[in-house]
Amino acid sequence: MFSSISDLESALLSCDQCKLCQENNHGPTSYNGSACSPLAIIGEGPGGVEDEYGVPLVGPSGQLLDKALWSVGVTRDKAYTSNVIKCRPNKNRTPTVEEGEFCASLWLDKEIAIIQPKVIIALGSVALKYLLAPTARITKDRGHWFTTKYNIPAIATYHPAYLLRLTGKDLVKAKWEVYYDMKAAVEKCQ
Ligand code: URA
Repeated sequence: MFSSISDLESALLSCDQCKLCQENNHGPTSYNGSACSPLAIIGEGPGGVEDEYGVPLVGPSGQLLDKALWSVGVTRDKAYTSNVIKCRPNKNRTPTVEEGEFCASLWLDKEIAIIQPKVIIALGSVALKYLLAPTARITKDRGHWFTTKYNIPAIATYHPAYLLRLTGKDLVKAKWEVYYDMKAAVEKCQ
């Protein structure tokens, strides 16, 4: 067990415990934001920009996440942001449930044990499936509170990458849903 998030981060950055580290270009990504935050936001895994910079959610999805957080009065440095999967899978494919479980059992679970957030936001399907159940569905389960295996309440919302693919009324509706999910999460932190 690691005594601090910086000890964990040092070990994480040299992780080679599964084949994903051969698929990605720049090595595992770490976390972003405040390790003292009551709010943890858990995404899927690094995309191209995150792989390059080594931190989660700094590319187009991360920029949209920032806007959603601003809309509920939170700046990113006040939240803890991390991913289920630490390495970028080849061609940015969606990681399998097994890959997510293996990686998160090595890293994310230990991060959460150190950070002890009050509330978790699961961003999108991969985070929801890891934090709730492999059978969970974002379309059905978003906006509903559930208790994670860490015994910490969590709410799932749409991944910003999904919003980036929407247009028109669908986009407006999804943005409002994300707003209400984030608002509920921030209120529960207080
Ligand atoms: N999508 C995620 O879920 N996490 C990232 O870090 C980048 C894109």
